[in-house]
Amino acid sequence: MSKICFFDTKPYDRTYFDSYKEQFGFEIDYFEPKLNADTAIMARGYEVVVAFVNDTIDAKTIDILYEEGVRLIAMRCAGYNNIDFKAAYGKIHVVRVPAYSPYAVAEHAMALLLTLNRKIHRAYNRTREHNFSLNGLTGFDLHGKTMGVIGTGKIGRIFIDICKGFGMEVLAYDPYPAKDAGLHYVSVEELCRRSDVISLHCPLTKDTWHLINKDTLQLMKKGTYIINTSRGALINSEDLLHAIKEEQIGGAVLDVYEEETEFFYEDLSGEIIKDDILSGLISMPNVIVTSHQAFLTKEALNNIAEITLQNIKDYAEGAGLPNEICYRCTKLDHCDKNEKNRCF
Ligand code: NAI
Repeated sequence: MSKICFFDTKPYDRTYFDSYKEQFGFEIDYFEPKLNADTAIMARGYEVVVAFVNDTIDAKTIDILYEEGVRLIAMRCAGYNNIDFKAAYGKIHVVRVPAYSPYAVAEHAMALLLTLNRKIHRAYNRTREHNFSLNGLTGFDLHGKTMGVIGTGKIGRIFIDICKGFGMEVLAYDPYPAKDAGLHYVSVEELCRRSDVISLHCPLTKDTWHLINKDTLQLMKKGTYIINTSRGALINSEDLLHAIKEEQIGGAVLDVYEEETEFFYEDLSGEIIKDDILSGLISMPNVIVTSHQAFLTKEALNNIAEITLQNIKDYAEGAGLPNEICYRCTKLDHCDKNEKNRCF
């Protein structure tokens, strides 16, 4: 096995993966389409496919991949909410890159907040037209304000450090609190009530789906800012748009959107966007949308390429798969992952 195929690739993926492929001895074929049940047939003849955040790796896709001989899906990302593990278990191993640069995402979250708060996006456009007016550009000091962080894992913790550097108070919510971090944990409700800015750094699961909705938005102080660099469906976007129109929410910065698969990573500048909620959000002066780019730094792209190819090498050599995603197979008597470092 030395040939791998990639789905949903862009020029920057190729640059970074090409620079590592000789070191690992793999031949790579890059496909532009996203992986889904219609395109899975393209994987015929490959034992390994490399996929990304907006691929649809449902049961149907997995069945086709398996029939075509695929035995490993290597995700070149950290999140894995787009994979049906139950369908993959026992047939296709699924590995990921658990961390490649939490700094990239945390720094992007702060960049978005600073842009929104100090209206940099508006000032940039104004001065290019020689409009040097300051009307409407007033922000507030972050120093002394309260940041609410939901999810205190790798990215959340780095984001908290950045916020503390700005002199912010930090409240946190996580069902698995970090004991060593000296963080002030509160309930989601209290975090919503007390924070001036709320930043989401938790995974998308059935428990976190639409965590930000009309009820939680109503708990927030009038004028609260929301940052989402995690997964779009953590927020009910329709409720968010409504709360922004009602001026309950002071602004939102979104690197992810719940229906992003159709739009993000593509140049649609000549097209009519038929998603009224996305169009509505983008049209607001106090909403900034970036196209799932928080990860996009040189360091992250290097790490993604190297760790993805190492995951594939481990599989090819029959070694343990430390980055295999644990499908809770509910085998209570023994755990293959613990014993053999492979889920099956
Ligand atoms: P992590 O696994 O280190 O941390 C996630 C934290 O969320 C953990 O502490 C976990 O206990 C907590 N959590 C689990 N369930 C929760 C719940 N119901 N409510 C609140 N917290 C909960 O993950 P990491 O690396 O910090 O990444 C966080 C998220 O960032 C990922 O799940 C992914 O969706 C997103 N991400 C986005 C990127 C982008 O380019 N925009 C790039 C990389 C990750």
